[in-house]
Amino acid sequence: MKSAKALTEILYVARELGPRSSLELLTSRIFSINHYYILCKSLSDARGSAAAGKTELFPISEGDVREIENSLTACSAADRREILSRLIFYQSGFGNCYVMRRDNKVTFMQWIIYPTENGLIREKYANYYCPLGEKQVMIENAFTFPAYRGLGCLASGTRQLMELARAQGYRSAVCYIRKDRIAAVNEFVRMGFTITRMIPEYKVLGGIWRSF
Ligand SMILES: CC(C)(COP(=O)(O)OP(=O)(O)OC[C@H]1O[C@@H](n2cnc3c(N)ncnc32)[C@H](O)[C@@H]1OP(=O)(O)O)[C@@H](O)C(=O)NCCC(=O)NCCS
Repeated sequence: MKSAKALTEILYVARELGPRSSLELLTSRIFSINHYYILCKSLSDARGSAAAGKTELFPISEGDVREIENSLTACSAADRREILSRLIFYQSGFGNCYVMRRDNKVTFMQWIIYPTENGLIREKYANYYCPLGEKQVMIENAFTFPAYRGLGCLASGTRQLMELARAQGYRSAVCYIRKDRIAAVNEFVRMGFTITRMIPEYKVLGGIWRSF
């Protein structure tokens, strides 16, 4: 059952990425090492921190998902990989994805993950994430579509999700960012997150795991 699902995922990625990028992805899965920062922030000061004039975030709809899937062909190979990994994350059951829209288009997406989803983390992403504390959320997988980068979507989206979590009674937020994603690291630090750890991620013969 698990292997049938994995095969479906591989075929889906191969179809959307095309032969060249699929081969690159496959090669990187044979052996590579990355490092991730784990950043944390207390939510005690999250109230009212979403900027005035913000573009509002909405829970993703099935129409948004279809629109994002349809946008894949127009994206660069690198962005297609980014988007596909997020669509797979969504399809694996992490449904609390929020999007921003401008010009009648999806411009930004980002997830909030709750401790009630620890079962799903343990089942499908135990190699990627630590289970969450009782009063902790994870804010993850931000993506701004290229035409809308540099307009502050990341800070605005993250602040709105932090505000939502604070209003729901959560006390802290955690996120994982690959070490070379300087723009994202800087933005999260600017919002008050602090780097608490750096962990290695190993990809060996198709398997992926992070060493906590
Ligand atoms: C990282 C990312 C989410 C930033 O989103 P964003 O909405 O553009 O964020 P901001 O508007 O706050 O810009 C962040 C920085 O990116 C820079 N930037 C990156 N690409 C840019 C572009 N095409 N045009 C203008 N600025 C850009 C900006 O200069 C800004 O730095 P500054 O605030 O010091 O000037 C986006 O680049 C992205 O989706 N990248 C691919 C996926 C990724 O790395 N996700 C983060 C993992 S959590």
